[in-house]
Amino acid sequence: MSVSIDLTGRKALVTGGSRGIGRAIAVRLAQAGCDVAINYLRNRAHAEETAQAVEACGRRALMHKVNVAEEARLPEMFGAIRETFGRLDILVSNAASGVIKPAMELTTRHWHWTMDINARALLPLVQQALPLMSDDSRVIAVSSLGAVRAIPNYAAVGASKAALESLVRHLAVELAPRGIRVNAISAGVVDTDALKHFSNREQLLTESARRTPAGRLTEPQDVADAALFLVSPLAGMMVGQTIVVDGGYSIMG
Ligand SMILES: NC(=O)c1ccc[n+]([C@@H]2O[C@H](COP(=O)([O-])OP(=O)(O)OC[C@H]3O[C@@H](n4cnc5c(N)ncnc54)[C@H](OP(=O)(O)O)[C@@H]3O)[C@@H](O)[C@H]2O)c1
Repeated sequence: MSVSIDLTGRKALVTGGSRGIGRAIAVRLAQAGCDVAINYLRNRAHAEETAQAVEACGRRALMHKVNVAEEARLPEMFGAIRETFGRLDILVSNAASGVIKPAMELTTRHWHWTMDINARALLPLVQQALPLMSDDSRVIAVSSLGAVRAIPNYAAVGASKAALESLVRHLAVELAPRGIRVNAISAGVVDTDALKHFSNREQLLTESARRTPAGRLTEPQDVADAALFLVSPLAGMMVGQTIVVDGGYSIMG
């Protein structure tokens, strides 16, 4: 028996879909048949590269620049999706930012910046996506191990990801009766531009690879494959879960 995941005709939005993990998810969804809206914050050239990769799969791409934390500007994005795609089946809330500093150096501004983008944005995104969604839609949030582990300089981002995972569980329960499945993917260290904000980037990469039972770092593609599973019919009974994709790193003592 062979099983394949065919999402032909489904419409997806990936926030922060222009590079890194978001790009890998956008392209994976396109390979499975989705048309994909790619949200980004600043760099249009990266978004264009992802759009071209989506189109190379024979799918439609839509680029939309907006800070996901700016709730008042989200209707523009969903309006563009409605106009271009007519509906939305898959929302991947992947965009993240955050201040990497010791907790004792964090200001209220740092805290709000990080929380607003990484945790709070999921709520208006889901609220505004809902009118475009059917009773077989999927929401995925991308989290990190800092939600449940203490990582140096990661207090704000870790706390934001913990809030995100909790919100995922609450949304999942509220939306499950409507047929909408909400889950999260938590990834181990992935070598993307995000790591440039860590002063100990090289050490982080070497140490993570060394401590990972699977013998290598998690790659964007690994996260994208988990996302593909979660939006597929194979994951119909996955509700409010956080799947950890880290090659076993986090279960090591
Ligand atoms: N890298 C890791 O080790 C790792 C590990 C676990 C989890 N994650 C999670 O995986 C997700 C993606 O991370 P990544 O490493 O791929 O990040 P990345 O390479 O830094 O890419 C970030 C993406 O998000 C966009 N973005 C940032 N802030 C935004 C905002 N306020 N509104 C809209 N778009 C925004 C960026 O757009 P521009 O290019 O226009 O700025 C870019 O497309 C995040 O949720 C992150 O927490 C990452």
